[in-house]
Formats: sequence, C-alpha cells, structure tokens
Amino acid sequence: MKTKLIIGLAAAGLAGAALAQTGAADTIKARQAGMKVVGASFKGVMDQSRGTPDAAVVKKHAAALVAQSAKINGWFGPGTATAPGVKTSALPTVWSNSAGFRKAAVNYDTQAKKLLALANAGDVAGIPAQARALGGTCKGCHDDFKAKGD
Ligand code: HEC
Repeated sequence: MKTKLIIGLAAAGLAGAALAQTGAADTIKARQAGMKVVGASFKGVMDQSRGTPDAAVVKKHAAALVAQSAKINGWFGPGTATAPGVKTSALPTVWSNSAGFRKAAVNYDTQAKKLLALANAGDVAGIPAQARALGGTCKGCHDDFKAKGD
C-alpha cells in the first residue's frame, strides 16, 4: 500500500518533470519564432530607411515589432534556459541578470513604440534615425544575453 503510494508519487513527479521540459522546449521554439518575426520586421524597416520611407510600410512592420515586444518577458520565463534536444542561443545571464534583461526589453519597447508613433504621424524624415535607435536596442540585448555567432 505504502509502496504503491510512493510509486504513484514518483510517477506523478516524473510526469510533472516531463511536462515542464515540454513546456520549456515549446517556449524556446516560440521565442525563436518570435525573434524571427522581429528580425524580418526590423529588416523591413531598414529597407525602407535607405530611400524615402513609405510610412504605411513602416507602420506595418513597427506594429509587428511592438506586438512582439509585449511577449518578450514571457518567452524567457523561469526554467526555459535550456531543454533537451533544443538549441538555444540565450545566455544564462538572461536569468542571472534578469533586471538587466528586463531593462533591455524595456529599451526595445520604448524605441519600437517611438518608431510606430513616427510612422503613424507620417513623419518619414525621422524614421531612419529612429530605426537606428531601435537597432541599438537589439544589439544592446544581444551583446549581453545572446550567444555570438548564432
Ligand atoms: C531583451 C533582449 C532582446 C532584444 C531587445 C532583442 N533580442 Fe533578438 N534575441 C534575444 C535572445 C536572448 C535570442 C536568442 C533566443 C534563443 O535562441 O533562445 C534572440 C534571437 C534573435 C534572432 C534569432 C532567432 C532564431 O532563433 O532564428 C534574431 C533574428 C533576433 N533575435 C533579432 C532581433 C532584432 C532584429 C531585434 C531588434 C529589433 C532583437 N532581436 C531584439 C534577445 C533580444
């Protein structure tokens, strides 16, 4: 009786651990897919910044960048540093320096929203400089929290 109970508890514990790992793998995949959207949207903005920007195109990409921003902290929740069978470029500093990571995410959010505001206002002259400011927040986070070369 007692043994059955212990085996039952152990099995429940294993199931819980397996569930947590699936959760972490899914979260890592979701953040990489989300960052791909960020990368593609940012490229769209940079392409516009070379000539005279089309405010409507920048607006579309900036809206996507702002939408992804709201998800960043959720992509890096506790227990999602690694998962078996999934590669990740997120450095352990994301979790050991979570205040710094959150600050980097806020910097990105602030600059993405400024870009969207410029596009909404049709202020095309200000867009290239704001795109560069936003790019600085990508680098700011990647330098400290993402492995190089990935
Ligand atoms: C707050 C931190 C942070 C900000 C801001 C940020 N990134 Fe990232 N990014 C990361 C981390 C961490 C990874 C690695 C995720 C992983 O592999 O689990 C990453 C991964 C990526 C990837 C690779 C996705 C893949 O797996 O193929 C691209 C592309 C990318 N970021 C582009 C950008 C661009 C462009 C910006 C700015 C417009 C940006 N990121 C802003 C932290 C950030």
